[in-house]
Amino acid sequence: MSHKILLLAGDGIGPEIVGAATGVLDALRTRFGLDAEVENALMGGCAVDATGDPLPEATLALARASDAILLGAVGGPKWDAIERDRRPERGLLRLRSGLDLFCNLRPAMLYPALAAASTLRPEVVEGLDLMIIRELTGDIYFGKPRGIETNAQGERFGYNTMIYTEREIRRIAHSAFRAALLRGRKVCSVDKANVLEATEFWREIVTDVAREYPDVTLTHMYVDNAAMQLVRAPKQFDVMVTGNIFGDILSDLASMLTGSIGMLPSASLNADNKGMFEPIHGSAPDIAGRDVANPLATILSLAMMLRYSLGEAAQAERVEQAVSRVLADGYRTADIHAPGTQLVGTREMGSKVVAALGG
Ligand code: IPM
Ligand code: MG
Repeated sequence: MSHKILLLAGDGIGPEIVGAATGVLDALRTRFGLDAEVENALMGGCAVDATGDPLPEATLALARASDAILLGAVGGPKWDAIERDRRPERGLLRLRSGLDLFCNLRPAMLYPALAAASTLRPEVVEGLDLMIIRELTGDIYFGKPRGIETNAQGERFGYNTMIYTEREIRRIAHSAFRAALLRGRKVCSVDKANVLEATEFWREIVTDVAREYPDVTLTHMYVDNAAMQLVRAPKQFDVMVTGNIFGDILSDLASMLTGSIGMLPSASLNADNKGMFEPIHGSAPDIAGRDVANPLATILSLAMMLRYSLGEAAQAERVEQAVSRVLADGYRTADIHAPGTQLVGTREMGSKVVAALGG
């Protein structure tokens, strides 16, 4: 059966990096028999400009009808000042929640060829292979009530609600333990149970789910300590599972352990493994349109799509190996460029990966 893939290029460098990934996808179809139909739609600032809505109905309908979505990046200064509900980020959040993409996988692994790109000493990060599993459709991101209001004394205030239901915690905990079984069999659950009831409850439920996974070792860590440990000794971690807001912050931190945020893919899955795949970096408006952005995180997101949503593990492997080969051959975009390596642009990096696929 043919896979239905939806491309949402988005804003800033989005069209360039998704363009490079599309080249890889086309090569898989023509050279390696991948059976896929591809459609494009508008999301983010480009959708605001065209329709007034960052997530137009037509895009949401196409997203629901597809097996998997590849997203470039959304947002930029052009849309920062418009009202909150029409900001590009809102489109992304509505898509995550509309498709119930609660399970966000954010791997942080270090390519041997890039060990020197990290700001940490090579011995601290060499061999790093960490998976952050971030709950993506709950927490203070979506909790109600929320708002900016004025109290009886005439003083303005802003507020949000951190809330997790048992069902939400159970399902993400299961995702984490199942992922750990395929890796190093360790889960570290991150919370702030010493202060916040919502995460005290989180700890209780994760501990309960752990009973079903006797082969996995569960530990707990407060989020402040986790931030410190990630920089001090990141290799102690295998799978980290945490809520939406802590996961947002810790995954940015973890991405920098590897030296380039331009290298890291992510997957956001629902209960049926349907998913949206996107690089974890943003739309980088400052370098948009200049053919300098690193397309590898998007190409690796395509690989995650093949593996997690489309059941095409062999094709995924092919893409990942091509990326490793290109790095080993010394090709680098500006963000990971170092003396002795060869500087290439977005398009050329894409073609190098296509060439390295073989066939
Ligand atoms: C991310 C981003 C988003 C988030 C923004 C763009 C809404 O930072 O995917 O990590 O906070 O989830
Ligand atoms: Mg973030």
